[in-house]
Amino acid sequence: MLSQQTIDIIKSTVPVLEQHGVTITKTFYKNMLSENPQLLNYFNHANQQQGRQQTALANSVYAAAAHIDNLEAIVPAVMLIAHKHRALGILPEHYPIVGANLLRAIKEVLGDAATDDIINAWAEAYGVIADVFISVEEDLYQKAEANGGWRLFKPFKVAKKVVENEEITSFYLAPEDGQALPEFVPGQYITVRVKPTGSEYFANRHYTVSQPSNNNEYRISVKREDENSPAGVVSTFLHNEINEGDTVELSAPAGEFTLVDNNNPVLFVSGGIGVTPLNTMLQTMELGRNVTFYQSARNEKSVAFKEQIEKKIEELNGTYRIHYSDAQGYVTKEDLAPYIQPNTEVYVCGPAPFMESVISIAKELNVATENIHFEFFGPLMTVNAL
Ligand code: HEM
Repeated sequence: MLSQQTIDIIKSTVPVLEQHGVTITKTFYKNMLSENPQLLNYFNHANQQQGRQQTALANSVYAAAAHIDNLEAIVPAVMLIAHKHRALGILPEHYPIVGANLLRAIKEVLGDAATDDIINAWAEAYGVIADVFISVEEDLYQKAEANGGWRLFKPFKVAKKVVENEEITSFYLAPEDGQALPEFVPGQYITVRVKPTGSEYFANRHYTVSQPSNNNEYRISVKREDENSPAGVVSTFLHNEINEGDTVELSAPAGEFTLVDNNNPVLFVSGGIGVTPLNTMLQTMELGRNVTFYQSARNEKSVAFKEQIEKKIEELNGTYRIHYSDAQGYVTKEDLAPYIQPNTEVYVCGPAPFMESVISIAKELNVATENIHFEFFGPLMTVNAL
């Protein structure tokens, strides 16, 4: 239990740390990764270079600290991060390394302003926050292992590689040990770990499982990203160099972006490759629920899974609309209004600006916040995410 004095120090210093946020976190990563290069096997080098992860991790430590006397309030956000950590294989022994480097960076950047009292209070608070993460993550590791699952990564063979369109290729991945795969919930992702050519370290990427559960294989559908950008390293490697018969490593399915089990009407709104989790959810739906699939893609060449969606929507007596943004521009309130009733559950997935716009349209059309479900691809960047 933290003392009231520690809590007061933490709460009064959160704004100062936030103000120096980027400098502290850049110092933190630079020190930590140069002294602990093994951690380069976990951190996404693309996010590092774009400065995104820097903000995400430290901001959530501050946000958690701001709620230090009521950590219950941040459990939903902790769950989201804990799923990512579990999928990446983050372990209890990593926490003290992060903690020590964060404190050291705070000292380096704040100089004399970081008194011993302040540093000690933060050390204590970090310990409490880290314990919450470690215990939630251990729970998730145990769940991942249950029912024939596994704890960290295991090797899978590429059983089939299928080009879906100019940008997207699907990989069918079967476990090399031949064990039956545990069920996953549609909308969950698996984490692929590879060593791209010329790289000393592993690179990890999360990909939605793009077909419903079966015991033999998982399918992922990977969009080719810019091969000259760090964000494209893994997708380029998979597209160009991973072929049928090759091996990649996977961790067990993770994530909480899944269908809510009730009878409300459902509207799926996808932008680009965001169609993957929504299509997987759609494919497992049963007749009787009112469903609309609104798919936005740049043009006819980039639309994915059209035949599959068409077929399933027909079975469900639902509605399918395709929106070509090159020709029709952004998705508008008028486009979505016909498919939204006050109790509609709206599921949105796509690039961040697309999602922000669809979420605000749904709110304008009086959909309750708890009925709007979304998943960002990439790290959560703001404190508000907590
Ligand atoms: C991702 C918070 C400890 C490694 C993240 C994200 C947040 C976060 C907010 C972004 C989640 C997203 O992608 O949506 C925290 C907090 C920690 C903590 C609050 C301490 C209490 C650690 C530790 C490690 C670690 C100890 C391992 C050394 C990572 C990695 C990612 C990540 C590798 C993925 C980042 C990427 O995209 O490269 N963490 N984290 N975190 N965290 Fe942590």
